Amino acid sequence: MERTLVILKPGTLQRGLVGEVISRFEKRGLKLVAMKMKQLTPEILDVHYAHLKNKPFFPWLRDGMMAAPVILCCWEGFEAVRVVREMAGATNARNAAPGTIRADYSLSAQENVVHTSDSVENAAIELDRFFVPEDYCEYSSPLNQYIYAPDEK
Ligand code: TYD
Repeated sequence: MERTLVILKPGTLQRGLVGEVISRFEKRGLKLVAMKMKQLTPEILDVHYAHLKNKPFFPWLRDGMMAAPVILCCWEGFEAVRVVREMAGATNARNAAPGTIRADYSLSAQENVVHTSDSVENAAIELDRFFVPEDYCEYSSPLNQYIYAPDEK
């Protein structure tokens, strides 16, 4: 099983969309294995968005990510990284495919509801950035027999 990071951005909390967005991942069949609320800092955002540091929009992106707390979630499932990223849709929500989270709840490249890890390698790095091993919860998922076939991986 893969694990991936989802960050519900400050605007998602402010707009009262936390429950709706989390429910999309639950209904798809993904398993929530860690979750916490956190006020992000400039230091952690400089690392998290290091690949965008030289972009002109970086100061607005960083301010937007600190405007309120975020909700950090770790979702688990077969091919969870790709599945979750596809559920989020294109970065610019105005280009996101209908039915994706960004298309259904937003109209902006910055205020686009969620962050999702973009590769298995980055998911591991990002999860380590925000979670410690004790944050992950072990529990049985009896519904898995209705979500996956026995031979799926
Ligand atoms: P990026 O990592 O390119 O996309 P994604 O979030 O889909 O993985 O960009 C990170 C965030 O930076 C993005 O969610 C919002 C912000 N951003 C802008 O505000 N304007 C832009 O033109 C881009 C590309 C990103």
